[in-house]
Amino acid sequence: MSALNAAQSGTFKIGGDLQVNRLGFGAMRVTGRGIWGEPADHAESIRTLKRLPELGVNFIDTADSYGPDVSEWLIKEALHPYSHGSVIATKGGLTRHGPDIWLPLGRPEYLIQQVHKSLRNLGVEQIDLWQLHRIDPKVPAGEQFDTIKSLQAAGLIRHAGLSEVSVADIQAASKYFKVATVQNRYNLVDRTSEDVLDYAEKHNIGFIPWYPLAAGDLAKPGSLLDTIARKHNAAPSQIALDWVLKRSPVMLPIPGTSKVKHLEENVAAVGITLSEEEFTALDAEGRKLFKAA
Ligand SMILES: NC(=O)c1ccc[n+]([C@@H]2O[C@H](COP(=O)([O-])OP(=O)(O)OC[C@H]3O[C@@H](n4cnc5c(N)ncnc54)[C@H](OP(=O)(O)O)[C@@H]3O)[C@@H](O)[C@H]2O)c1
Repeated sequence: MSALNAAQSGTFKIGGDLQVNRLGFGAMRVTGRGIWGEPADHAESIRTLKRLPELGVNFIDTADSYGPDVSEWLIKEALHPYSHGSVIATKGGLTRHGPDIWLPLGRPEYLIQQVHKSLRNLGVEQIDLWQLHRIDPKVPAGEQFDTIKSLQAAGLIRHAGLSEVSVADIQAASKYFKVATVQNRYNLVDRTSEDVLDYAEKHNIGFIPWYPLAAGDLAKPGSLLDTIARKHNAAPSQIALDWVLKRSPVMLPIPGTSKVKHLEENVAAVGITLSEEEFTALDAEGRKLFKAA
């Protein structure tokens, strides 16, 4: 095993059968500015994606709306036919009308169309994990969940997940299909989804925290995070990532970058071991800042 290897983060079985190393990769940042169009440096985006299997990163998160389509195309260009055992998770249910503009669309025919597009974009016959990017409030939730159930029954998607949801949403969706993963914003200083994380852990649902590197004011020079990072000769973002990984065995963080150097730095974080005291102190400080925000 290479000195830098995501396997050190431990493993998790998505849906009980697709085993991945817990430290994954978010492929939103390999696209253009505003997650729109081609990246500024195509070659570096491809290099970053090609480096993933070498570093043991075998869980890759994307979405049809990243680019749109560009992120899925780049993943196919760099990694198809996924012979290293990469698990590709994509999402659908958001439309794009320009840089940084995202609008939910959960009509069944649109979700079905997007799954067919993602299959083609990624060059696969079945999507490993397909996540509803947002529950569209304009469409009955049951219709959206029923569509996912039918996509699974048709064999187009293997496992299904949700994004930005509450515990009640997971329970409602579970009446239609087995919720394999939940993807909510979560980091040291954004603890809005603590209850969702606890529910996911109890039910062995993979919890995919997006924006996992954020630490806000906790990363300021002289802060607790900064002090702990210096002690480990690490960057504050690496310690923030370690903290997230240590928080729960169902946690599957997907830090995103368009640069090989940053990817390597993020993977190197799994070689750092936080002590229980450091974990607890960071936890308390993060909660304090979250409550004050
Ligand atoms: N479900 C949802 O609604 C949702 C929403 C947003 C994101 N996501 C998913 O979550 C993934 C992660 O979220 P995110 O990209 O917002 O947050 P993140 O991974 O916490 O942060 C990404 C940002 O940090 C920078 N970065 C990454 N590694 C770095 C390093 N070692 N040193 C310095 N800067 C570094 C990146 O820029 P560089 O490119 O310059 O490295 C980028 O600007 C996305 O890729 C996407 O797959 C999901």
